[in-house]
Formats: sequence, structure tokens, C-alpha cells
Amino acid sequence: MALSVSFTSFSTLILLCFFASLFPGNAFPSQLYHHPNHRRFASHNYRDALTKSILFFEGQRSGKLPSNQRLSWRRDSGLSDGSAMHVDLVGGYYDAGDNVKFGFPMAFTTTMLSWSVLEFGGLMQGELQNARVAIRWATDYLLKATSHPNTIYVQVGDANKDHSCWERPEDMDTPRSVFKIDKNTPGSDVAAETAAALASASLIFRKSDPSYSRLLLTRAIRVFAFANKYRGSYSNGLKPYVCPFYCSYSGYQDELLWGAAWLHKATRNPAYLNYIQVNGQSLGADESDNVFGWDNKHAGARILLSKAFLVQKVQVLHDYKGHADNYICSLIPGNPFSQAQYTPGGLLFRMNDSNMQYVTSTSFLLLTYAKYLTTAHKVVTCGGMTVTPKRLRAIAKKQVDYLLGDNPLKMSYMVGYGGRYPQRIHHRGSSLPSIAVHPAKIQCSSGFSAMKSPSPNPNILVGAVVGGPDQHDRFPDQRPDYEQSEPATYINAPLVGALAYLAHSSGQL
Ligand SMILES: *[C@@H]1O[C@H](CO)[C@@H](O)[C@H](O)[C@H]1NC(C)=O
Repeated sequence: MALSVSFTSFSTLILLCFFASLFPGNAFPSQLYHHPNHRRFASHNYRDALTKSILFFEGQRSGKLPSNQRLSWRRDSGLSDGSAMHVDLVGGYYDAGDNVKFGFPMAFTTTMLSWSVLEFGGLMQGELQNARVAIRWATDYLLKATSHPNTIYVQVGDANKDHSCWERPEDMDTPRSVFKIDKNTPGSDVAAETAAALASASLIFRKSDPSYSRLLLTRAIRVFAFANKYRGSYSNGLKPYVCPFYCSYSGYQDELLWGAAWLHKATRNPAYLNYIQVNGQSLGADESDNVFGWDNKHAGARILLSKAFLVQKVQVLHDYKGHADNYICSLIPGNPFSQAQYTPGGLLFRMNDSNMQYVTSTSFLLLTYAKYLTTAHKVVTCGGMTVTPKRLRAIAKKQVDYLLGDNPLKMSYMVGYGGRYPQRIHHRGSSLPSIAVHPAKIQCSSGFSAMKSPSPNPNILVGAVVGGPDQHDRFPDQRPDYEQSEPATYINAPLVGALAYLAHSSGQL
């Protein structure tokens, strides 16, 4: 069995856990006096969870792995990606448990990792650098995917053929077909999300690597202009390849608003502010859709644009405080605008397939809005009910705590965190023996015996958060069950920010 993390860090961790368990409740008595909340000691090790949530991205890497790769059961893969169209598309991330590089969710993942660092990176301590590396792994790829003007390479891999095999990424031999959008086959959704990813990441590297930051921002400007000028949804032109996997069900309007919001934030060019003022309503700024994720960015755009009003005092965006409040009210139980649905155990529940992406993205927006409100000394009013930033933080913390193990099954939904976590995640690389243990190729269909086997996965994809429990808090932990047992980069990306906040505050709100 392959070691999943480098031996030193893993054994240090085990030692720390061991000593902590020797002194439950009185190992650090001074903290008890400063924080007379008894849950402190029963509470979660958010910093450990933060470390793992970022480590997960190393397990999703495609391309040539660096010598400091910590998830060492993974090896190089996809080294000729792009050759089908004579372009270099080596690198980037596999989205989830398969070996396809889907540009649409990869770009959203990048934007959310960047937003996580922008809001809470100052609290990440030693993990800040790892978070930056995780972002750069994506942006290096997105720069390649956007290197030709008015063209974006939006996917590598034929999803249907990939899904009919159960192969390690290192072995894969299904077609590495390349799919692109251009003037004739537009995709404003994937293009504007890619622009958002590049623009948000430019802010991450502004101080640490100014020339890289400028490259990202210049590219973001060009890509957004392309997204806006050649309008259409990529899932029209590329339907057989991107649907039903990452079909743009919500259309491209949400991404144009979200992309413009990020371009405004990154450039401070009033042209984007003007764009938002002129087009906001037609792009759905005040629609009531409230599921924020890889497909629909409206809620995120509302919260992000509310910051410009609340914190930067951009008066012309004052409506976005109201738009953001409406979104927040829809999540709060017990008010006339509430649409909140919870499992009996208390988990926000909106979808059977990968519900945890909804939990992590919502928790991030709650904590982020709480931060803006606090800065501006504001609250939310939901039909006569006053909702404070503290309340928003409490809701978010409860969701993250559920994810980490405070739930009816006492199950952590993050692999490698806590005493009990999913053992049979729907992930090809994690479920097949590593190259180190089994160097011989495992063919397309031979992998399915491992997929169907009840044995635990041999490689621990540390930090992976799976789709999670069903609407009755049940979790069968069965590998074929992709709805509940598959991890995805866009589940983790917003969780990184939420965990940084909670680690800093140690769960004190
Ligand atoms: C989830 O699946 C159950 C059982 O098939 C169904 O009754 C329910 O409506 C689904 N929920 C959602 C949110 O799709």
C-alpha cells in the first residue's frame, strides 16, 4: 500500500494527535480560561482540515508532477494532452474521480480558490503558500488554454469513453480529444468563468509575482472581451461532449455578470462598473436563483458586488446589498423568504448528486458576507427578522462541523480527517493500486473489478470531500455511487476559505 503523504509530515501529525489524546481537556488549560466554551475541546481541528483540503489538489493534478509532490502515489499523466490539436495543454486538474480535464469546472474551482485566499489567506499561516501553488497549477494551464486569441481549449478527454473505463490517470489510453470554443462556436459561460479565474488569480500574485500577475490580468481582459462579444452557451456547440457532464444549464448570463465583477475588482477600470450598471439586470442580478456552484454564479456575483458597495463604498452598486440580502434571507430558516432545506441532522440539502458542493459554497458565501457586513457595521433584515453577521457565521460553522463529523453517522466527509471517513470513494486513482505498488498497466475494463470491490481504497486521497449524505443523513460508502462518494475540486475550493476562517477563530464566532 502506498503512503499517501510524505512520511515525516504524516508521522508528526500522528504524534500530535497521540499527545493531544493523552490530555483531553487539560493539555492547554490556559486556553480553557480564555475561552470558557466547553465545545472548544470537543471542537474540530480546522487547521488540520485546512491543510488537508489543499493537499487534495495535488491528488487531482494532471501533467508532469514536481519533485515536491506530497501525494506520492500519483505519477505523471496526460503528458501529450493537446497534441490532438497541436497545442500544449499539459497540466491542470482532473475535476473529480475521472481523468477528464473539464475547463468549465476547473475555471470555477480556480476562481473559488482565489476568492478563498483573497478573503481569508491572511489567516492561513503556513498554508498560504500551498494555496497559492494550488491556484498556480490551474492558472498555468488556463494560460495555455487561452494562448490563442478568440479561442479557448475547454476540455481534454472524451468523457463518454473515459467513463467507460476504470483506469489510473497514469495508464489512461482513451482518446485525449481536445474541444475548443471560438467565434463560430462561442461559449460565453466557460469564457467568462475563465476570465474570472484569471482576474481573481491576478490579485493573488500581485505582490508575490507581479509579472505573472500582469500576465494573468492582461489575459483575463482579452478573454472577457471574447466572452462578451461572441455570445452563446458552450453547451450548444459542444453538447455531445460537455453534456450531461458540465452542461451550462443556467446559461451564460450569470458568468458574464460574475466575470465583469472580477474584472472590475482586479482592474478598477470604470468600464466594467459601467458594464455592470448597464447590463446587470438583463444578466440576472436580481433573479432569485440561489444555488451557487460550477453552473450558476449569480449568488456569488451578488455577494462579490455587495463588497464594492459595503466596503469600497462604490455607491452606484447599492442595489447589490439588497440583492445579496435577498440571497442570504433565502438561506435563513424562519423568515418569509426562506427556501432553506435541511436534512434531519442539519445539513443544507438541495441536490442528490454532490450536495456537499452546495454546502461548501454556501458556507463560504455566508462567512464572506459576514465579513463585509462586519466591516460596514451592517446587518441583514429578512421580513422583519434581523440577521447579524454572527448568525451567518454560526450557520456556516454548523455546516462545516457537520461535514467534519458532527452528524448522525459521526462520519467525516473529508477523507483522512477524523477517525471515521469514506473508505471507498469514487475515484479511479485512489481506488486502484498505485504505480509504485503495481507498475504493470491496468487495462480499461480490468479496473472495474476494483471499482465494484467492497475493499477500501488503497490510496488515501487526503482532504477529498465527497458528495456526502442523502436527504436522510445516510451514507452507504459504496464506490459505484458517484452521487454521494465522488470528490470534486469545486467541493473543496470554497471550503479552503471557510476552513481558514474557522481555523483562525478556532470556531469562536
Ligand atoms: C432525491 O432523490 C429522492 C429519491 O429518489 C427524491 O425523492 C428527491 O426528490 C430527490 N431530491 C432532490 C433534491 O432532487
